[in-house]
Amino acid sequence: MNDMTTTTTSTRTTVLDATGVTMRFGGLTAVRSVDLQVSSGEIVGLIGPNGAGKTTFFNCLTGLYVPTEGRVSYKGTVLPPKPHLVTQAGIARTFQNIRLFSNMTVLENVLVGRHTRTKEGLWSALLRGPGFKKAEAASHERAMELLEFIGLQHKADHLARNLPYGEQRKLEIARALASEPGLLLLDEPTAGMNPQETRVTEDLVFAIRDQGIAVLVIEHDMRFIFNLSDRVACLVQGEKLVEGTAEVVQGDERVIAAYLGTPFEGAPGAEEVAEVEAAEADAHSDTSTTGSEGDAK
Ligand SMILES: Nc1ncnc2c1ncn2[C@@H]1O[C@H](COP(=O)(O)OP(=O)(O)OP(=O)(O)O)[C@@H](O)[C@H]1O
Ligand SMILES: [Mg+2]
Repeated sequence: MNDMTTTTTSTRTTVLDATGVTMRFGGLTAVRSVDLQVSSGEIVGLIGPNGAGKTTFFNCLTGLYVPTEGRVSYKGTVLPPKPHLVTQAGIARTFQNIRLFSNMTVLENVLVGRHTRTKEGLWSALLRGPGFKKAEAASHERAMELLEFIGLQHKADHLARNLPYGEQRKLEIARALASEPGLLLLDEPTAGMNPQETRVTEDLVFAIRDQGIAVLVIEHDMRFIFNLSDRVACLVQGEKLVEGTAEVVQGDERVIAAYLGTPFEGAPGAEEVAEVEAAEADAHSDTSTTGSEGDAK
């Protein structure tokens, strides 16, 4: 986990390097030529309206989808597009739609997350074979540590399905951490959480970063994302529209327009709309305005 190696003049190393990632589904280009880097010690936010391609981009990074074009490297090595190999390489993720083993206990869910880091593998873990028993003590200790880290140690024996929604989301994070990643991808970690749970999750993500794990996080909660992130990238209709500090992204009128559903100059597919608007503007000699508050959902 302590991977803060300094091989270059900079103290930060590039953990994730996605270049020209494109994902097409038939005629639909869900992700278009997206470049994104994440360095060690960094929390990077990924925002964008519904359907912008954020989850699809995550799926391309984690081998769930084979990108139509582009390349994804982790710590300098191109990743094979196979989810278990990506996890093994050091990238872990959570899902927008929670994916826990609902009939397993909280502890067992974390133990399953460890299978890529133990020799025994998933089936041995699930079937509790002899090899698993040996590795079990160490795994158990680490899993309990992780449950403590997310504040769920007192529920280790509860069935995952009996946890409130917010706790299930946290359990997903613990399960992801169990694979001892160098990069954690979080897809809407606070969806369905109340404000207090969201604040706790914010602290949790900072604590994860402080352990030397880089974080790339998708969220619609703007307060959360801008508080948390060193850098934010905004996807709109599959393209990276802007990337920068919270100030830069919040101040970008195209981002505001995208969230409000107003086409911006140069937006993919916006030409026709722009023409119509120009015609309307001529007719009404009216200029379109947008709010300056970047807190839109
Ligand atoms: N497997 C698929 N087959 C066809 N189209 C897909 C597939 N997965 C995603 N899409 C389409 O790609 C586009 C991007 O979807 P995606 O789920 O990546 O958006 P998102 O930014 O994560 O949105 P949200 O904020 O609502 O989660 C959408 O138009 C979606 O319908
Ligand atoms: Mg999504």
